[in-house]
Amino acid sequence: MLVSLSNEEQYRAMNKPIREREGELRLKGGLVELRDFTSENITKSYLEWLSDPWLMRFSNQRFRTHDLNSSRAFLHSFAGTENLFLAIWHESTLIGTMTAYQSPPHGTADIGLLIGVGFQGKGFGQDAWTTLMNHLLAKGVRKVTGGTLRCNSAMVSIMQRCGMRADGVRVSQELVDGVAHDMLYFAKFAS
Ligand SMILES: CC(C)(COP(=O)(O)OP(=O)(O)OC[C@H]1O[C@@H](n2cnc3c(N)ncnc32)[C@H](O)[C@@H]1OP(=O)(O)O)[C@@H](O)C(=O)NCCC(=O)NCCS
Repeated sequence: MLVSLSNEEQYRAMNKPIREREGELRLKGGLVELRDFTSENITKSYLEWLSDPWLMRFSNQRFRTHDLNSSRAFLHSFAGTENLFLAIWHESTLIGTMTAYQSPPHGTADIGLLIGVGFQGKGFGQDAWTTLMNHLLAKGVRKVTGGTLRCNSAMVSIMQRCGMRADGVRVSQELVDGVAHDMLYFAKFAS
């Protein structure tokens, strides 16, 4: 059911807290803090980011519709798994999100990043990426990976600057406005 965010009471009733983990994860970077994403973080702004055509121009999220229920279902999909869904905070403002899909049998984690509208180009993405990558490597992950289209120059720059190395290319993998772009993969090993 589509819930109008203009009706605060109805919204709160529909958006009951979801707790994914007992102890909350908190990782401090130089500019940002990463904490477990909670259902309270599904705000109007957050839903607007996911529906923003410019922000999502390189992401497959642009082919999906996002609302309170789909966002709660996404959050719930992390329950009882090794995977992380994190909110990125700058001071007291939610500025973005991160995911980490972990495979303990292989010692790998694949991470993703979203910095919200109005918070880009300030170094927050770089700081958040480096903070989560270093945390995962420090806690025993053998190989941290990430991927993005070659035309997403900000994301390519983030992965190169934090010391990741090239980990493969899928040539002409995805279309952006009808033009095929390569998907670039990057990786950082623990040692
Ligand atoms: C890609 C994204 C994460 C970058 O985050 P950010 O906080 O704006 O990036 P930073 O401010 O940390 O800058 C990182 C680098 O990107 C560059 N950059 C920032 N915004 C940019 C832009 N709009 N165009 C080109 N480069 C840009 C910075 O100059 C910096 O490069 P440098 O180290 O060579 O100077 C953010 O734009 C985003 O969330 N986009 C939508 C979702 C997405 O594409 N996610 C990536 C898929 S995993």
